[in-house]
Amino acid sequence: MDSFEWNKIAGAVLGTLIFVLVIGIVSDAIYEVPKPAKPAYIVEGVATTATSATPAAPAEEPLPDFGTVLPTADTAKGQQVATQCEQCHDISKGGPNKIGPELWGVIGRPRATEAGFSYSTAMASNHDPWTFEKLFRYLKSPQAVVPGTKMSFAGLRSAQQRIDLLAWLRTKSDNPAPIPPPAQSKPQAPQQQPAQNTPPKKQ
Ligand code: HEC
Repeated sequence: MDSFEWNKIAGAVLGTLIFVLVIGIVSDAIYEVPKPAKPAYIVEGVATTATSATPAAPAEEPLPDFGTVLPTADTAKGQQVATQCEQCHDISKGGPNKIGPELWGVIGRPRATEAGFSYSTAMASNHDPWTFEKLFRYLKSPQAVVPGTKMSFAGLRSAQQRIDLLAWLRTKSDNPAPIPPPAQSKPQAPQQQPAQNTPPKKQ
């Protein structure tokens, strides 16, 4: 092989390298997805009743607008979810305390006040009435919201499950807690797809 031959080989290698580089740059330019200026979802009407008694609470999860979500919740599904609770709680009128306290009428009931049940000091440290908001948080992660509670239940991750459960649990009462009015702001349109300006995703 003479040096001319070597030159050709070197040239070919270099050419390939440059070609690969250029393709990389060009495809970056083509596929770059602009970030939306605003987040696609804005949660309206999030109540900001600060419950500073629960410092370790997973505060990031937005509270739903109960006036909107409760009327459309699926109480039949909620009843299904409640079978998990019924391993430890009786939820019928006048029922007994079991591993956990009787839960008839628990929404609106002051915390840790069911007669004859021996609460943990953690739970009994506070007698604020149970609201939809507080139960929504507590049932996601009992230990995070009431550190030291003896309710050994991991929690329900799904917000919808908790909403369905609360809608059903609300009916298990002589005096069902009133559903708050929906937030004043424009009605949410949950069906609407946020797809308008989204460029096709690569991947
Ligand atoms: C493994 C048993 C167990 C399961 C399952 C369980 N709990 Fe409990 N729950 C308890 C115990 C025990 C307590 C008392 C906690 C304390 O004193 O710290 C309690 C307390 C509570 C309280 C506070 C009651 C009051 O009088 O203040 C509520 C509300 C509650 N549970 C709801 C639920 C719901 C809803 C579910 C189902 C999603 C559930 N629990 C599942 C055992 C359980």
